[in-house]
Amino acid sequence: MLELRLGFLASHGGSNLQSILDAIATGELPARACLVICNNSQARALERAAAAGVPGLHLSGSTHPDPAAHDEAMLEALRRHDVNLVVCAGYMRKVGSRVLAAFPQRVVNIHPALLPRFGGQGMWGLHVHEAVLAAGETETGVTIHLVDQAYDHGPILAQARVPVLPGDTPETLQARVLETEHRLYPDTLRRIALGEIDLDASFRGGAT
Ligand code: GRF
Repeated sequence: MLELRLGFLASHGGSNLQSILDAIATGELPARACLVICNNSQARALERAAAAGVPGLHLSGSTHPDPAAHDEAMLEALRRHDVNLVVCAGYMRKVGSRVLAAFPQRVVNIHPALLPRFGGQGMWGLHVHEAVLAAGETETGVTIHLVDQAYDHGPILAQARVPVLPGDTPETLQARVLETEHRLYPDTLRRIALGEIDLDASFRGGAT
């Protein structure tokens, strides 16, 4: 079994972070939460980290105006906390090239749609669900994927489908998708820990 030492990147509410912390607390997910990095000092994600006794760190354009220095500070913090898997959970910035290079095939992200559709720049928050409804889809879902230099692009590790129901608004759809996110993320990490998902083999399988 792989000993997962998780470093989270988050920007806002951190409900996905919470679902993973909960799965660790119940023993369902054999992993350790080592660090939560937020680019927003007011983020609820930092409060959730503190409540779980996980170190939190604010790194942003205000703490590090130079993107290269920001990237370096993040890398230093991830190394200092001995992280071996970086988990993006609602992180609104691109992960820097130094961190990506230092964690090859070891940065994962969650996206609230069935990639490769409804992903890419501008596809975040309610925009994703508005686009799904505007396209007249009858089904949407959740994707967990490896992170590379492009938004929402790396190889897919897991997906779950969610129905679009008559009368759905972007908000109702978002809420239904989020419930599935809270199951799929801890479950996918568990499968990585157990070796059921091989990150290196997924990478060799190619991008979305
Ligand atoms: C989720 O919908 C996730 O898929 C997307 O950003 C949202 C984060 O929500 N990447 P939360 O901060 O985990 O509550």
